[in-house]
Amino acid sequence: MPIVVDPDSGAVAALLATLPATAQGSAHGVPNGERLLRWLDEHPTEYVVVIGPSIPLEEALLLCERLRVTRPALSLVLVRPKLEAAMLTRAMAAGVREVVAVGDTAGLLGSVSRAEELHLALRGPGSAGPSGRIVTVFSPKGGVGKTTLAVNLAVALSKGGTKQVCLVDLDLAFGDVAITLQLLPTHSIEHAIGSEMAVDLPLVQSLLTKHEASIMVLAPPNHPDVRERITALLVSRILGALRTGFDYIVVDTAPDFDEHTLTALDETDECVMVATLDLPTLKNVKIGLATLDSLAIAAGHHHVVLNHADEDTGLSIQQAEEILGRTIQVRMQSSIDVARSTNLGVPIMSSQPDHAVSNAIRGLAAQLAGGTGEPHAVVEDDRPSRRSSRRMKLRR
Ligand SMILES: Nc1ncnc2c1ncn2[C@@H]1O[C@H](COP(=O)(O)OP(=O)(O)OP(=O)(O)O)[C@@H](O)[C@H]1O
Ligand SMILES: [Mg+2]
Repeated sequence: MPIVVDPDSGAVAALLATLPATAQGSAHGVPNGERLLRWLDEHPTEYVVVIGPSIPLEEALLLCERLRVTRPALSLVLVRPKLEAAMLTRAMAAGVREVVAVGDTAGLLGSVSRAEELHLALRGPGSAGPSGRIVTVFSPKGGVGKTTLAVNLAVALSKGGTKQVCLVDLDLAFGDVAITLQLLPTHSIEHAIGSEMAVDLPLVQSLLTKHEASIMVLAPPNHPDVRERITALLVSRILGALRTGFDYIVVDTAPDFDEHTLTALDETDECVMVATLDLPTLKNVKIGLATLDSLAIAAGHHHVVLNHADEDTGLSIQQAEEILGRTIQVRMQSSIDVARSTNLGVPIMSSQPDHAVSNAIRGLAAQLAGGTGEPHAVVEDDRPSRRSSRRMKLRR
């Protein structure tokens, strides 16, 4: 899939918006050359890099020189504010395959599509590569409903068993997916420790626990301290392998921008951010969204979900949107049925598919699948007012 590199998150978002999802997945943005090189190390199958207009020419050419030698099969597309003959000559000498002017959407699409053709030709027929989409459910706050949403989203995305979904519990110390589905996993991600370089789909499949025919779960380790032995590279390789075998990979996360979460977010096609109607959560969600922007994570693919949206906390949804500076796409009401479904181990999406909360989550699933979900899934209340370094780290 195309990788866009540019320090200006606005420029990344504009370029990503231009690039359609391909058979290999959605385009991904990174802010600088260092992040790009790390991404390429972890994703040996990437085939095209779009170098954005805010990277100074000399820096861009140095990066291209390096990639020309280390990654000769990679297509490099340079986007520049102006096309000049002298610059074009230097770019070609540095290994750039095509140079496109800022705003030349057709030119950029053509360059990326030629890069994809070349990639497929080099790999040979029948090797279209990964296609599953990664959906990460995140919030910098604990207890807001991430796991509830992730589990129900997995059910919604499976569309009655017609789509294959893998639910990855990346809350590696305190994951609740297994208990929420009343599963007793015999294997977990722990069994892949040390296998970073050997990870492939069969290996990961051997670690999964079946929930339903079309929903598999990758469980976290049994003991919290094992988390420290799970490397970011292992997480990245596992997600990459899962892309090749599932239509959707839904990742549930810990409420923290730790290495594992950041790795999943780096891989993410769609990021679902969960908030509730209280000031501390809204403040942290706002910072979380700004962090996603500054790291160019899933640019243009953020979905804000308000859980317990009907609670009378003294804050209105409009005020919440003003605080966040974002539109809230999906509202989930508080319902004792949701809490009960957690305790019974059956997602409400399965036990009560017509419940208002199920409808809201189905709307989100439709958005994620590129369908026609309501941009604002307004849900009626059934129980109104039931109760009132390397990178930045946000702690619970
Ligand atoms: N809309 C809702 N109505 C009623 N109860 C809910 C709702 N959403 C979540 N809950 C309940 O709140 C509790 C916490 O939810 P959940 O475990 O999904 O949160 P979390 O964000 O994953 O927490 P953690 O950060 O600890 O992982 C669960 O018991 C769940 O059933
Ligand atoms: Mg959870």
